Amino acid sequence: MQIITIDGPASSGKGTVAKLIAKKLGFHYLESGAIYRVVALITIKEAIDSSDIDSILTLIDNMELRFIDGSVLVDNLDVTDGLRAEAVGMMASTVAKNDVIRKRLLDFQREFATEPGLVTDGRDMGSVVFPNAHLKIFLTASPTVRAKRRYEQLKHNINVSLDNILADIIARDKQDTERANAPLKYDSSFILIDNDNMTIDETVQCIISLLNSKHNI
Ligand code: DC
Repeated sequence: MQIITIDGPASSGKGTVAKLIAKKLGFHYLESGAIYRVVALITIKEAIDSSDIDSILTLIDNMELRFIDGSVLVDNLDVTDGLRAEAVGMMASTVAKNDVIRKRLLDFQREFATEPGLVTDGRDMGSVVFPNAHLKIFLTASPTVRAKRRYEQLKHNINVSLDNILADIIARDKQDTERANAPLKYDSSFILIDNDNMTIDETVQCIISLLNSKHNI
């Protein structure tokens, strides 16, 4: 069974790219960030302090999380729309710093690796969750380009400014790369793709070509 991991920072396009590749190949898809975002959303809703790890672990143990046709259901409630807010992303990044929380979520993530294969994206999918994946991509782009992409996605919905988004991206990069546990980190086991000057389709095509060339080796 093949596993393709795409690690990378916020708004590098990893989720969109991973989803398209999964569809092309007929593989399962796991957006690991959505798991951390769900934990963050409930933490915020239940007014739990981010330092209260025991309460967050209880929350994790008691929630029933399911991904169905692009929707995220927690205890049968569709929470998909609430997950995208900047505040939820920031809280996700904060709870994700804790090693016990990360370990508690490991098995859940690994259960997605079933036939015919899995495409998954996140900060540590190739480095920690699936270190022996068939193809490990590290997808990145400059903070400015990522902020512009995020701004284009959000500007129609909410009152957001490009400056604020850029500041959030820089803060989240710092928190995700400097944390002690499973930080976002490139090493030579990954293939690095900087997609500053690439469209989503070009990025997908590049990864499919890499996969095909691996098969020919
Ligand atoms: O990919 P995302 O922006 O939806 O992820 C939200 C936060 O969750 C991210 O800032 C850090 C955390 N996260 C993580 O620590 N490990 C992952 N595999 C995925 C997300």
